[in-house]
Amino acid sequence: MKDFQNLIQDELKTMYCVETELQHLMPEMVKGARNPKLKELFEKFQGQVPKQIERLQEIGHLVGVDFADAECEAMKGMVKECKKILNRNYLDQVLDAALISMLQKIKHYEIALYGVLKSFARHLKMKEMEALLGESSKEEKEADKLLTDLAMGSLFGGGINSEACKRRSA
Ligand SMILES: [Fe+2]
Repeated sequence: MKDFQNLIQDELKTMYCVETELQHLMPEMVKGARNPKLKELFEKFQGQVPKQIERLQEIGHLVGVDFADAECEAMKGMVKECKKILNRNYLDQVLDAALISMLQKIKHYEIALYGVLKSFARHLKMKEMEALLGESSKEEKEADKLLTDLAMGSLFGGGINSEACKRRSA
């Protein structure tokens, strides 16, 4: 029978699969984004992924996980969904709104997973693991906030969603 340690190992593998899938997906999202600010933001997030993968590998050494068979059906489904969005022939501003929406769904999944793993680490008093997970979790929450800000706009201008809203097919 599998125990709590096995559960942690399984969840870590899921997290690892999410990050590695995202590493392959982000360049496509950068390429697909039309708004220069969105492209820049996606590039920033793309740059964070290798460090997040490194942290997971470090944790893997700490708890003895081999990521070779890491699998995550949910993330694979989201990758498929994102590729459909990129091929759906949306108007530029609508494509940007759709890509933000897609990445926020992924970020929320990451936030949930990092949160669960952090609480497991805390429970087991694994401080180093908790700290490493905390760094990635913080980045994911910040990414989610930056995406919301860009979608919603500010006092000084409308966001991507309001631009997308104004556009109609010819
Ligand atoms: Fe991530």
